[in-house]
This record gives sequence, structure tokens and C-alpha cells, in this order.
Amino acid sequence: MAEDLSIIAGTKTEQYESLIPQINGLLDGEPDLIANLANIVAALKEQFGWFWVGFYLVKNNELVLGPFQGPVACTRIRKGKGVCGASWEKAKTIIVPDVEKFPGHIACSSLSKSEIVVPVIRNNEVIGVLDVDSSKYDQFDTTDQKYLETVVNLVQF
Ligand code: SME
Repeated sequence: MAEDLSIIAGTKTEQYESLIPQINGLLDGEPDLIANLANIVAALKEQFGWFWVGFYLVKNNELVLGPFQGPVACTRIRKGKGVCGASWEKAKTIIVPDVEKFPGHIACSSLSKSEIVVPVIRNNEVIGVLDVDSSKYDQFDTTDQKYLETVVNLVQF
């Protein structure tokens, strides 16, 4: 396993294309879920410098905070609540260009301005979400959706 990440400049697509094989390398041969989720969020944070990036995992019908990089965050989110709970309920990726305009958005930090939440789906069930927050407005689009959906599908849960 490579322990150093190669961080590149370039378009968003170029950055994801460089990072995803490296994430694959980090996961290769490692069965521990927490270790793998921890390295994924670290790699994403290092490449993109987002404000917050982390997983919430479904436990006893709630989303519970998992491995993340960034400031401390809310630990539990109910189904349908906030962007994360909405992504879980709908089993769909949600892109929020301006969090203040998303009804029910949960503000873990007032510095977060835009957000993308990608559900982790296994056997037709949402078992967690990947949440990414930016301190700038309108930072996420369908390119992020495509690549972040690829990233969550690399993980063996
Ligand atoms: N903003 C999220 C809550 C999680 S924090 O951003 C880390 C939401 O509305 O679900």
C-alpha cells in the first residue's frame, strides 16, 4: 500500500482521475471498514481541501457520525432530517449550492456554505452517507456526484 498521496493541480476531473486509483491502492488488501473510511476521507480532504468530509453510518435507524476530517460535527441525524437524512430517505445524491436555502439543513458549522451528500447503497439499502461541505457557495456539481459515487462504491462494507 502506498502511504504517500500524490496531490495534483488541475481540473476537478483531473484531480479525481488522479486520486481514485490511489484510493483504490489504499483500500487494497485491507478489510477493516473504519481504517478504509478514515483513509478515504483523509485522501479527499488532502486533494480537495474541503471544509469537512466524512461518513455517517446507519445504526439503529439513525445516521451516526463515522470517520471524518474537519471540525467536530453533529453525531446523530434522523431519517429525513437535514441534507444527510434526506439523501438517506431518498437513496439519492443531493447537491446543495447554498445550504441556507435547503429547508431543514443541519448547520454543524456556520462556515459551511455548500454541500453534497452521496448515499452508500448495498443490497438496495442505504447503509450510510458520504457528506462533503465547502466553505464556499456552489462548489459541487454532477462531476463530484459521478466521482464520489464511484468512491463510495470502492468500499467493501
Ligand atoms: N449539514 C448536514 C449535517 C452534517 S454536517 O454538515 C457535518 C446536514 O444538513 O445533513
